Amino acid sequence: MSARTGCGAAGEALIGQELKFSGWVHRRRDHGGLIFIDLRDRSGLLQVVFNPEVARDAHDLAHGLRAEYVIEVSGSLGRRPEGTENPGIPTGRVELYAQRLAILNEAAPLPFGLEDQDTSETLKLRHRYLDLRRPQMQKNLIARHRAVKAIRDYLDSEGFLEIETPMLTKSTPEGARDYLVPSRVNPGQFYALPQSPQLFKQILMASGYEKYFQVARCFRDEDLRADRQPEFTQVDIETSFMDGDEIMRITEGMLAAAFHQVLDIEIERVPFERLSYKEAMERFGSDKPDLRIGREICDMAGPAQKGSFKVFLDAIEKGGRVLGLRGIGMAGLSRKEIDDLTNSVKEMGAKGLAWIKIKSGPGSPITKYDSPIAKFFPEEALREMAGKLKAEDGDMMLFVADSEKTAQAVIGKLRLELGKRYPVDFKEDEWRFCWITDFPLLEWDEEEGRFTAVHHPFTSPSDPDVPRIMDGDINDKELLSSLKAKAYDVVLNGCEIGGGSVRIHRQDLQSRMFSMLGISAADAQMKFGFLLEALQYGAPPHGGLALGLDRLVMLMCGAESIRDVIAFPKTAKAADLMSGAPSGVEPKQLRELHIKLDVPAAEEGGQ
Ligand code: AMO
Ligand code: AMP
Repeated sequence: MSARTGCGAAGEALIGQELKFSGWVHRRRDHGGLIFIDLRDRSGLLQVVFNPEVARDAHDLAHGLRAEYVIEVSGSLGRRPEGTENPGIPTGRVELYAQRLAILNEAAPLPFGLEDQDTSETLKLRHRYLDLRRPQMQKNLIARHRAVKAIRDYLDSEGFLEIETPMLTKSTPEGARDYLVPSRVNPGQFYALPQSPQLFKQILMASGYEKYFQVARCFRDEDLRADRQPEFTQVDIETSFMDGDEIMRITEGMLAAAFHQVLDIEIERVPFERLSYKEAMERFGSDKPDLRIGREICDMAGPAQKGSFKVFLDAIEKGGRVLGLRGIGMAGLSRKEIDDLTNSVKEMGAKGLAWIKIKSGPGSPITKYDSPIAKFFPEEALREMAGKLKAEDGDMMLFVADSEKTAQAVIGKLRLELGKRYPVDFKEDEWRFCWITDFPLLEWDEEEGRFTAVHHPFTSPSDPDVPRIMDGDINDKELLSSLKAKAYDVVLNGCEIGGGSVRIHRQDLQSRMFSMLGISAADAQMKFGFLLEALQYGAPPHGGLALGLDRLVMLMCGAESIRDVIAFPKTAKAADLMSGAPSGVEPKQLRELHIKLDVPAAEEGGQ
């Protein structure tokens, strides 16, 4: 007998051949005389027919088959009788007439059916080995493999070297908490798992490797969401002697290669559109704008100031903003629907939602502005608002007045929510990439009472800012708030899929940066001494970027969460429900590590 054939490879070209298949019983239908099973392996599904008149022994044995039994079956491949084809699967025109059947392993009744739609996430994660059998999960992991392969090949062709960096390392500050690992041989001392390979890749540049990449696992102890996992994967790159434009070009090439390989799609609009951080916030209220949505945010200060609505005037007087958004086709909203919308806007952090409906009166073409606040504005101001928002008859104009930060954030979220409801405004099937550039270098952290780096502390300030930093007063808040970074994020359909920057390669500037961040010289030496040292022995100008591989593949697969493209993901509480990690450890293990626990009894982990 020939070697095993994949179920998915059973096409019309093989009709008439004697073939052997092995896999899992996906579905079974016993029609008394004939028994049909859908046999599943990684490559697809194939219908197998057991006919007592063709092979009695195999048919008898097939009676006992149950879902997920592992079998080997051989026979001849035939064309399905007319009218019985299944256009839903690629092998739907053929079927296998079984001659021999062997049961390789039985399966206990499953805790959930692989095709059930409403299985809880908890049950699926608890039995991930079953969940991973679902064809959709297999498709996702295959897509992930192809994406990584395409990216590796592309980077190799561009002269990049794949170099591994340590997992047991010193803390690198990407802004999250570290996962710590105690060192047995150095009692009381800890490694940190890398939040990213940031410092090592910079050191590799100082060491002359010029173009580095790594498919790198990163660990961050932070609050988890659909697009965040405590351990995730970056395609991490670093280059010497390249400026931001060149790094962006490499990244675009990497993404184009992945889209071509995985989805057979040629990315349009290359080079990607670029928006400064300021412009993105002004037009979309977000530094990861979803450009598939047409409507944009408008500044309403002009017309607002022509009226006497106190909420608007107060906000402007306090240095805040009045921002508007077009509510396409929303003039028909009931009071209750508007109240619900107002409540959700309040949950987003705004104080309220002002609205003006645009309607023409019955039988009259004259536009009416229907709103409790319309009376505060002259007709001219209302027309100006509608003109700015491109709002028409049947639309509603929506306004949020608040501090710039709140108003932008809220109206940006509203844009996403409302935009996705209206197909005229939302081109769901498009792939809209963009670069966000010119980020601020630093931001004031109220809680810590100091400036922190928007990207990370190794990001270079813009060229004109360098002398301002070296000669200026680092306690001058205004100066520090005005600095721009040579940083760039790449965004796809409203999701930040990567970020990077040109780095500081001069030791004096890096030391100055640490002082601006309130890190003392002694602390800088203790935490980053090795970097500062490396920079003084001839470090080349360098820069790079990291793509969030999980997020990229999630979008490519149309998945809702990065959990769907990671083989063994963790829950929102950072637990692996299948293996039971994290868990308690033996007292002996703790003694060896010189660790004593101080956990409130109620929280103590089991063994
Ligand atoms: P940054 O912190 O922006 O940059 O991370 C780069 C990209 O990684 C993805 N990402 C995540 N994905 C899943 N789960 C998470 N918890 C998570 N956190 C981040 C995002 C993000 O854009 N060292 C720098 C890169 C550089 O400067 O070269 C860094 O790590 O898609
Ligand atoms: P009030 O003056 O509180 O009666 O509010 C009148 C209208 O303005 C209501 O629809 C409120 O939801 C709305 N509103 C209140 N505060 C704001 C704000 N900061 N921005 C936008 N609309 C607001």
